[in-house]
Amino acid sequence: MPKARISGMGVFIPEKVYDNAYFETIVDTSDEWITRRTGIKERHIAEPEDYTTDIASRAAQNALDNAGIKAEDIDLIILSTVTPDYFTPNCACVVQKNIGAVNAAAFDLNAACSSFITDMVTASQFIENGTYKNVLIVCADVLSKATDYKDRGTCILFGDAAGAAVLSAAEDGEGLISYELGADGAGCLNITQLAYREDAEETEKRVSGRKETVWMAGQSVMKFAVKAMADSSNRILEKAGLSYDDIKLVIPHQANYRIVDSAIKRMGIEKDKVYLHLEKQGNTSSSCIPVAIAEAAGKGLIERGDKVLIVGFGGGLTWGSAIFEY
Ligand code: UT7
Repeated sequence: MPKARISGMGVFIPEKVYDNAYFETIVDTSDEWITRRTGIKERHIAEPEDYTTDIASRAAQNALDNAGIKAEDIDLIILSTVTPDYFTPNCACVVQKNIGAVNAAAFDLNAACSSFITDMVTASQFIENGTYKNVLIVCADVLSKATDYKDRGTCILFGDAAGAAVLSAAEDGEGLISYELGADGAGCLNITQLAYREDAEETEKRVSGRKETVWMAGQSVMKFAVKAMADSSNRILEKAGLSYDDIKLVIPHQANYRIVDSAIKRMGIEKDKVYLHLEKQGNTSSSCIPVAIAEAAGKGLIERGDKVLIVGFGGGLTWGSAIFEY
């Protein structure tokens, strides 16, 4: 059975930065509050003319270059976003056009911030069953377009970014070793962004009244996140017969330092096993994890053959975890 291994990674991070001092000028907040409650200091923000498919295509091209694979050799593109340019066409088709991946099937997959893990698991099925050789996964969000900049409880959290990975069939190595995907639909209204649905209660919750902006019940999401991330990681390790000692790096969804801190205490691991960039990038939804993998590899924190554990949670509510050989 072929194994699905990462053959290349690519990212796109916009240049513009909103630091905590900027938020002090637009809402009633302080650098001290934001730092203490979230760990975030800066977030990168896309230019107004840049949409999800623009930054997604740049990350995708970077991943192809990094993998040394031609666009025509991509068999499938899976794209994840909660800020699509259109309801149709899907964003994956737009990226297919932009990068010239003329032989690729293309669809979008939405598991919110848990999407990269869901994409990786999905792509691996196609590779392991022999259907496809090269699958391009792209996670991209311009959350700045879906942020209510009048709501101090959410606007300080989000940044824009895109992260992409090429998964290729390999005869050697282990590929995806263990994984779990989960959902708790009962908690679906804890994080919302509305499309066609008219819902007076949801509109009322938003300071600006813009129903397409992200709203969340922060405390409930935090409680869910800590348990979901820690317990899911522990379960997939046990399933694989591994321990945290076998894992080179744990890369969690980068939503809030306090969530990560509580989750790793529950996992029983030290901070030096965990990769975090949220201080500099904030929460970039599904892009957090692929961007973090690419950064960790670039810094030499993970090398070929190392086992990496990724774990995330998000709107849905969803969660996911995976152990793979880099
Ligand atoms: O990836 C998607 C998943 N989303 C998340 O992971 C977010 C999870 N949740 C969180 O990160 C945290 O819940 C927040 C950072 C959003 C909020 O932190 P919290 O410790 O849960 O604060 P809180 O919502 O309980 O609010 C405490 C107080 C409130 O004031 P009162 O009612 O006690 O007077 C808020 O109005 O803090 C106030 N507050 C702020 N104060 C200054 C909320 N946001 C701010 C702010 N600056 N930016």
